[in-house]
Amino acid sequence: MAAGRAFLCAPSSLAVGARRLAFACPPVSPLAAEANRRGRGRCYCSASVSDAPASAQKNYVLTTPLYYVNAPPHMGSAYTTIAADAIARFQRLLDKRVMLITGTDEHGEKIATSAEACGRNPKDHCDTISNSYKMLWADLDIGYDKFIRTTDPKHEAVVNDFYSRVLNSGDIYRADYEGLYCVSCEEYKDEKELMENKCCPVHLKPCVPRKEDNYFFALSKYQHQLEDLLTRNPNFVRPSHRLNEVQGWIKSGLRDFSISRASVEWGIPVPNDTKQTIYVWFDALLGYISALLDDGENASLQHAVERGWPASLHLIGKDILRFHAVYWPAMLMSAGISVPDAVFGHGFLTKDGMKMGKSLGNTLEPKDLVNRFGADAVRYFFLREVEFGNDGDYSEERFINIVNAHLANTIGNLLNRTLGLLKKNCKSTLSVDSIAAADGNSLKDNVENLVDKAKDQFENLLLSSACETLLEIGNLGNLYIDEQAPWSCFKQGGENAEKAAKDLVIILETMRIISIALSPITPGLSLRIYTQLGFTEDQFRALRWEDTKWGGLKAGQVMMEPKPVFARIETETEEKDQSSSKATKGGKKKARSEGLVGA
Ligand code: MSP
Repeated sequence: MAAGRAFLCAPSSLAVGARRLAFACPPVSPLAAEANRRGRGRCYCSASVSDAPASAQKNYVLTTPLYYVNAPPHMGSAYTTIAADAIARFQRLLDKRVMLITGTDEHGEKIATSAEACGRNPKDHCDTISNSYKMLWADLDIGYDKFIRTTDPKHEAVVNDFYSRVLNSGDIYRADYEGLYCVSCEEYKDEKELMENKCCPVHLKPCVPRKEDNYFFALSKYQHQLEDLLTRNPNFVRPSHRLNEVQGWIKSGLRDFSISRASVEWGIPVPNDTKQTIYVWFDALLGYISALLDDGENASLQHAVERGWPASLHLIGKDILRFHAVYWPAMLMSAGISVPDAVFGHGFLTKDGMKMGKSLGNTLEPKDLVNRFGADAVRYFFLREVEFGNDGDYSEERFINIVNAHLANTIGNLLNRTLGLLKKNCKSTLSVDSIAAADGNSLKDNVENLVDKAKDQFENLLLSSACETLLEIGNLGNLYIDEQAPWSCFKQGGENAEKAAKDLVIILETMRIISIALSPITPGLSLRIYTQLGFTEDQFRALRWEDTKWGGLKAGQVMMEPKPVFARIETETEEKDQSSSKATKGGKKKARSEGLVGA
């Protein structure tokens, strides 16, 4: 196996259509490297699902939207990517061969205008902003496998092939179009969906009248096939209330849409008509397929599809549902390519009830949040607080309360005090195996049931509920230690002290299980917990969901020196109180939890 490669190259002769275990060699991403360390770089490239051994790993291709590079990322863009990373990490725990695709959408009028406003040429502008996305993903502990840029030549080749296929299907024609255009949405709007003064309801800006001679995609031809798709597979659009919305759009009749722009230079030229460029959505959606290619390999649509298409899941915000659940499957049908398995449309992060966004200028800086509170806190808060699929409002007070209560107190403090007791009374060494310690103990059964429940919730993309279930395990652990009071049992000595030593093993086994099951959400915190329990980082990286089974801790295992795994966030008021009470000792605490970031 080539060093630093997570997946080996697939032969180029695989047929389109059959689902192939044919991931190509991605560049070395953080998770690819991690996968290598975990010894998962096995090659399944020559096997299709039908001829693969029953034990072979399944593919899981997951995408985030490709973000517009009109401005650097904000918390709204980060939200989808955090969720995607958590799902990808969970699927990796299930031993799937996961490919998490993200990237940037770099063509079109909106980008050209923003480049001009910054006094940069479009290419330099795209390079700068695209890079800021990559940097933020690193800060947020997001381990993508592929990052596609729509200005990448391999992407352009795939778009050209795709356009030709759709043209050959007879689904492209030329016509005049006149309508109202929202540049921020990059979409012609129906007058009836606009607000007063012809304002776009998402961006609150007036739409502009446009008249153009364009190429059109015959979407209306696919009405019945789309209806069929949703009837046969209602899980194609999730959550279910979004399915209703999509069914409503289709039922009300589909109109052909324009797929080229005569007035926009910054784009991929229409094959055989260089006076027009391809509409940014007819270009960007193809990024999900071109991303599958490796740099330098034969850049064709056919080849890209063979590398792992169709995607298992497109994760998107609800504002771009129509493009993904109506336009995209119809485009794929026209080109004779399989549709993805599912599209999940999540809600918006809002500020004062309004969608947080670059165009409205009411954004929250994710980098600032990470600097102040750490990646785990940011990931946990948004995934726990916002029911995945619904909107959620941000408040700093709530952020601090949730993160302190759940991560610092329920989880961090429980581990810390248990390890403290073990150090004091058992030389930081486990007296018995966790299986023996829990013999006949109902906490073990409760933990196992809750872990199964969390697994189910993760599988169904109920990320907030999964966090809640895992926190419930932490609550049970706290309740158990308080009820058993091992600190006083140790003082009593004899059998009571033996029982107390067993109780500490039970709590630590509970913490071990939490750390694995919560690792898709809080990877850094989970690693810190796991290493405090005396395991190595390599052991952590090799974990699978099945390791959440009770019994990982063995007699004789030595725990690390207890150190807080998650520092409580101090608010300014608390800080003031503390500094006045500690003034004589000169102790002043920081109003942030950064002490542990990356520890
Ligand atoms: N470039 C298109 C996507 C093309 S995919 C082939 C695009 N880009 S975007 O940058 O405007 O938005 C990207 C994603 O970020 C969308 O899913 C959008 O819903 C999401 N979000 C942007 N603001 C958001 C919030 N305030 N809250 C949650 N997600 C939001 O659309």
